Amino acid sequence: MPKIRFTVSLEENLLTEFDQVLKHRNYTNRSEAIRDLIRQNLIEEEWEEGAEVIGNITMVYNHHERELAHELTHTQHDFNDVIISTQHVHIDHDNCLEVIVVRGKVSEITQLYNTLKATGGVKQCELIRSTTGQLLN
Ligand code: NI
Repeated sequence: MPKIRFTVSLEENLLTEFDQVLKHRNYTNRSEAIRDLIRQNLIEEEWEEGAEVIGNITMVYNHHERELAHELTHTQHDFNDVIISTQHVHIDHDNCLEVIVVRGKVSEITQLYNTLKATGGVKQCELIRSTTGQLLN
């Protein structure tokens, strides 16, 4: 798609700080950094609008905790309509990492995430809000 040029005016100190962040993050030009900011904003909008979204939930837990592994599997079966796949990694003797790829309604994914996060014994649980790519065409 052809690119359109537009002009932005902002305070000098804001631009100086922005340029420092770009340097720190290895951007070679402002345009790419601004494109990334806009894309990130559109993705956030996608999640707020409640359209069909895609993302993943990553969690770490100790499978020796009484009933925990069973409980987490039970929750995932309850939300099977939004779960595309689950990858399980045995980190060491005690700890497991699971990456659950989700797709569907924001409300249902959020409910799954909150349920997993609130399950006693789960050491870490993060939701990555990704994009179906539709808004970024
Ligand atoms: Ni394991």
